Amino acid sequence: MRAKDIRERAGGEPIAMLTAYDAPTARLADDAGIDIVLVGDSVGNTRLGHDSTLPVTVDEMCSFTAAVSRATEDALVVADMPFLSFGADDDDAIENCGRMLKEADADAVKLECGPHTIELTRRLTRLGVPVQAHLGLTPQRENETGLYRQGTDNDSAREIKDLAREHEAAGAFSLVLEHVPANLAASVTEALSIPTIGIGAGPECDGQVLVVDEVIGLSERVAPFSKRFGDARSEMRSAIESYADAVESGAFPADEHSHYESDLDDTY
Ligand code: KIV
Repeated sequence: MRAKDIRERAGGEPIAMLTAYDAPTARLADDAGIDIVLVGDSVGNTRLGHDSTLPVTVDEMCSFTAAVSRATEDALVVADMPFLSFGADDDDAIENCGRMLKEADADAVKLECGPHTIELTRRLTRLGVPVQAHLGLTPQRENETGLYRQGTDNDSAREIKDLAREHEAAGAFSLVLEHVPANLAASVTEALSIPTIGIGAGPECDGQVLVVDEVIGLSERVAPFSKRFGDARSEMRSAIESYADAVESGAFPADEHSHYESDLDDTY
């Protein structure tokens, strides 16, 4: 899958996008027919034990993205650019984004957007780095905006729609809309010719994205706009408890898990 294939899906078959941070999960997502695997900076919360995405580094994103790319054959792999790896100096940003394609074999990058990412999107696209824009709730700005729904009044809704148009004109191949009213997402989707991919943005986007830990039921809590489709947490807990019990009781390892050498004597 290439960014241009996703771009052409606007108004067509819905796009299924899911985060993954490691090779086995990426392989499962790819096999399941997920169109876009996002190596989200949500890895900070889901895998690294931080309470926000802010501490995630470019090196960490490179390493997680490389693992996902190695395991993915069909899906588009998008690397999420972490906090302050872009937005301050565009030359540095281009180098950081370039690492995701050159070192980690990503197909595209995602930027949490604002007025400061329009020109960067244009430059990256011209250089051959496909950009997925992200508007609405952008968690990297949580210290400024809080983690609240966005676009809830006319001014902020207009700002999101204007920024969406400007990023489309700058070359973005798709747009993630996070935690905005469904009617705003519908109106942005109608106004753009690139696909919108919603998370907490209602049913009228061209696609949906969720965090894999919530989908499989691994995380303790689930965002109100998300949904658990499995109970991995219970499965994992029960397997780990069974293993601990088996070691404590001596039931593991059994004969079939051990081997003996008859040629060994007791002289060693
Ligand atoms: O980091 C992430 O997982 C994301 C999605 C929630 C869109 O940006």
